[in-house]
Amino acid sequence: MPLSHVEAAKLVDELSVHDIERGGVLCGIFGRMGSAKTTLLSTLSKKVAYINPEDDKPYLETVIWRGRHPVDYFLSMPPERTVTLWLHESDSIQFFNERGRQYAESELPPILRYKDCYDLLSRLRWGGVNVVYEPRNYVLPETIKTVISRKIFEKVSYFDGDADPALFWFELIALLLVKKRLNKFISVFIDEAYEVFPHTSSQIRWHLQDFLNYKLLDIRKCLISLYLTAHQTWHLDPFLSSSLQYRIYLRGSTVARNSLITNKGLPISLPKGQGIIEGGLFGQFEFSRLPTFKRIGVRFVLPDEHLLGKSEPCTQPPLDQRTAGLLPTPSTESTVEETIMPSPSAAR
Ligand SMILES: Nc1ncnc2c1ncn2[C@@H]1O[C@H](COP(=O)(O)OP(=O)(O)OP(=O)(O)O)[C@@H](O)[C@H]1O
Ligand SMILES: [Mg+2]
Repeated sequence: MPLSHVEAAKLVDELSVHDIERGGVLCGIFGRMGSAKTTLLSTLSKKVAYINPEDDKPYLETVIWRGRHPVDYFLSMPPERTVTLWLHESDSIQFFNERGRQYAESELPPILRYKDCYDLLSRLRWGGVNVVYEPRNYVLPETIKTVISRKIFEKVSYFDGDADPALFWFELIALLLVKKRLNKFISVFIDEAYEVFPHTSSQIRWHLQDFLNYKLLDIRKCLISLYLTAHQTWHLDPFLSSSLQYRIYLRGSTVARNSLITNKGLPISLPKGQGIIEGGLFGQFEFSRLPTFKRIGVRFVLPDEHLLGKSEPCTQPPLDQRTAGLLPTPSTESTVEETIMPSPSAAR
C-alpha cells in the first residue's frame, strides 16, 4: 500500500513551523552515507519558522547550527538568511573551497569570537543562522559539575581538565533552558549527532546525556527545537532516539523498534530525494537537491603550527599522464586495483 503524501506534508509542516501550543520539536533524520541527510537538515534550517502569537504571522526562527570540521555547509544558506560564524576566542580557523583555495574573510559570513557559553548566548544573532564551532579545548564549567554532583549526590572531581569539545553542547542547551526568554523560539541543528549523543557513554558523558534526557520535555516547553542526523536510529543515545517526536528515514536506514511502521526495512531502497516521516502518523515525501549546496573545508590551526614549516603544495599530474601502465585502464573485468581505485565508469 503506498504511503500517504498528505500525512507526510502535514508532518513536514509541523516540523518546519512551530507554535507556542506545540512548543519545540525533537526530530531525527536517519540515512546511510550520501542519502542526503545534510541536504535535508540544511533545507529545514533554511525555512524553520514560528508563529508569533502577537500577530499570528510566521517569522523565520533563530537557528544554531553546529559547525563541524573538516567539512561544513554554511555557504548553502540562501541570501535571506543572515549567517554568523562563532568561534571560541582561543581558536583559529581556516576555510577552503573544494579545490583547496583558502577563503578570504571578505568571502565569508562575519566571524565573531565568544568567550564562553554565556557570552555566546548574550550576543547571539536572533532571527539569523548562528554557526557555532565548539571550543577546541573545552573545560567543563563549575555550574555543570554542580548540577551533576547534585544529581548523583557526590562531589564530582574526576573530570577536571580538557573534556571532549562536543560536551560543550550540553552546556549550551542547559543554558538555553535557563537563560533564554520563554517567548523566544530557537532551533538547534546537529549534523552527525552521534558525536554529541552517542549510543554508548560512560562517566561524565553518561551523566550529561542522562541530564538532557530528563530535560527533553522542558526543552520543548521552552520553545527549543532539536534537529539531529545519524546513519541509524540506534547510533544515538537510546533514550533520546526513542523520545524523538519526529523521525525521518532516508535511503538505507531502518525503522526504529518502537515505530508504528511494521515493515522495518521500508526505507532501505528509497530513492535519493525521498523520505518517510513519522510522528504519530506517517507518510512519504520528496525533497530536492539544494542548488546552493556547497561543501567547505574547515581546518583549525594548531597553536604551534608555525613550527612545522610550510608544506609544499601538492603538484600531482592528472591521472592519465601519471599512470601510463601502472593503473588499470577502464575495463569490464574487475581487478584488485579497481577495488582500490575504481575506473571512472565504475565509480558510480
Ligand atoms: N533530492 C536529491 N536528488 C539528487 N541528489 C541529491 C538530492 N539531495 C541531495 N543530493 C545530493 O546527494 C549528495 C549527498 O548529499 P548529502 O551530503 O546531503 O548526504 P549525506 O547523507 O549528508 O551524506 P554523508 O553521510 O556523507 O554525510 C550531494 O551531492 C547532494 O547534492
Ligand atoms: Mg552529511
